[in-house]
This record gives sequence, structure tokens and C-alpha cells, in this order.
Amino acid sequence: VIELSKTKPDTIPQRFVRDITERPTIATLTPNKAPIITTPTHNNHHMPIIDFSNLSKHNTHELFLHELLNLATACQNWGFFQVVNHGVDLNLMESIEKMSNEFFMLPLEEKQKYPMLPGTIQGYGQAFVFSEDQKLDWCNMLALAIEPQHARNPNLWPKKPEKFSETLEEYSREVRKLCENLVKYIAIGLGLKEEAFDSMFGEAVQAIRINYYPACSRPELVMGLSPHSDGSALTVLQQAKGSPVGLQILKDGIWIPVHTLPNALVINIGDTIEVLTNGKYKSVEHRAVANENKDRLSLVTFYAPSYEVELGPMPEFVDANHPCKFRRYNHGEYSKHYVTHRLQGKKALDFAKIQTS
Ligand code: SIN
Ligand code: FE2
Repeated sequence: VIELSKTKPDTIPQRFVRDITERPTIATLTPNKAPIITTPTHNNHHMPIIDFSNLSKHNTHELFLHELLNLATACQNWGFFQVVNHGVDLNLMESIEKMSNEFFMLPLEEKQKYPMLPGTIQGYGQAFVFSEDQKLDWCNMLALAIEPQHARNPNLWPKKPEKFSETLEEYSREVRKLCENLVKYIAIGLGLKEEAFDSMFGEAVQAIRINYYPACSRPELVMGLSPHSDGSALTVLQQAKGSPVGLQILKDGIWIPVHTLPNALVINIGDTIEVLTNGKYKSVEHRAVANENKDRLSLVTFYAPSYEVELGPMPEFVDANHPCKFRRYNHGEYSKHYVTHRLQGKKALDFAKIQTS
């Protein structure tokens, strides 16, 4: 898509043109000009902000509890929030962003040394494509497994730009720490033991997808990334500095563009947490749209249980008023199901749902 967009085509190839029912509306494409979106439960589209420094043990208990409540409310009402003072080194965030941009600007032959093979989400290319008639997203991505180490395919880690691998490794270590802390605080906020999720996840899986959305002359005809919920437990999204708004979340039936604070990271609840909490916290459907004038880069880290573990709703969230919504399943099988189907809203989660007739 990057190479296609550089030719500034007068017409968008049919393979990218969405069915009329799937196109983004103009109002959401130009969020700065759009009227404030009012939804039944929220009178503005301001996504919750969590100040992570308030959750550190050095703070007063009051501040800690206050922020913990903010976090719990954000998880339950939004499934999406931004964290500030998250502890991920800002220089590292900037470096990985810069190097990612450099990677995407390399000649196609160079990038194609790391091809994403059909049915896998590792390497460079277009993911979740399974048929000739399926519409393509206006996006190229570089996807890499980070942890556990044996899941990595070293042949797919770009040799250019220089130091990319080392920087990605360092960045990923810091993001992992944030994820480990987040699942702790989310557990405490749910009234569970601090290590409730950690101990269940085993050796947690971590992966990164770096998305590049080139500018598109007709953004209203295409989709940057098809609507989906994440198959992870948690997702951490870094939106590159200077990138236009592009992420949208479905809230109360309305697509809301996500404006992020400078240096903030956007966190969202994935399908795993929805299953474990029996739907108390939900993974929220989201998508990305293209921009008419500017390219956009986002770096997305997925944090998920080990493929070995069996998951299902925790007994704490099941009672007479909250019947069990999901069956028990192996997370590796869920992941396989997720990556071998096209992105389609929250459909992947049907895999785990108990079918009621
Ligand atoms: C994603 O959902 O994986 C990425 C969305 C974005 O680029 O903002
Ligand atoms: Fe996502």
C-alpha cells in the first residue's frame, strides 16, 4: 500500500474500496471539525486518563485508591484508556518510532526480505488476508513475536535500519513491565489477589505489530484496519508523534476518534480479560481509518497468556445473576483461531462463547 500511495492514484483500486455499509463516515474522518459526540452514557468522547505514577507504592494510600478506582471504572465503562507517567522511557519510544518509520520507507525489495506468510502474523506485509475477494486494509505492517524467545523468528527481524532489533528489544522489555504492573492493578481493582492474572497466564506471550497507514486520497472509501477486538489480554498502543488521529473505538454504537495526549500510551482490554471476568470487563471493538494528507504510524504491543494455558471465566465472576458466558478452552487454540480468520468485529470471541439457544 505504501508504494501504491506514493504513486498518488487518481482512483482507488477496487480491492481496497469498501462496501458502502463498511465505510467510515466523513464526520469521524475529520474529528477536529466534527461536533462533540454525545452518547447516552457519556456527554463527551474524552477517553479516561490514568496517571500511573499515582499507582506506585511511594504514594499515599488515598491517591493509590483513587487512581485504582479510576482504572477500574475505565476498564468497565470504556475498555480503553490512556496512561501517562507510564514508566516507558520517552527516548526509547521516540527511537523505536523513528526506526520504524525508516523501515517502512525502505525500498520494497528490502522489506520483502521479511515476508509475512499467509496464515501467520510475523513479518512484513498484510495480515488477516485469506481470500482473493476479501477487501484489503489501507495498511502495511511489520509483526514480530517478542516473548517467549523461542517463538521468535530471527530471520524476520529487520537488519535495517541499524540497531532496530536492539532498540525493539529494549522497548519491549519496558512495555512488558508496564503490562505486568497493569494486570496487577487491574486484578486488585477487581477485588482479586495481585498475582491473580499473572499466575494464570504462565510465561506470558508478547508480540508487536507496527502499523503504517499511508495517506489516502479517498479515505472515505477505504479502511486502515478492519474493525476488531484484540485477542490478547491487554494491548499497549503507541501512536507516533505528529501522526494524525486514526484510531476509533465503538462506544454505545458510535465510532469515536481517539485523541491521545503527547507521550501517553493507549491501553485496551483484550478478549482474554473479557473471558476471565465473564464479561464484567469487555474487549472493545476498534478500527483505524486512513488520513487524506498524512501518513500514520502506530506501534501495538499485545500481552497474552502462554499458549499452553486453559482459560475460562473465573469463579469469582459467575453466580446466579451472572451465568457463565464462556466455555473453557486452550489459549493456543484461541490464538490460532484468531489469526486464521479475517478481522470481523468481535466475531473471534464466538469461539469461546457458550451458545444459548
Ligand atoms: C490495532 O488495533 O492493532 C491498531 C490500531 C491503530 O493503529 O491505532
Ligand atoms: Fe487492535
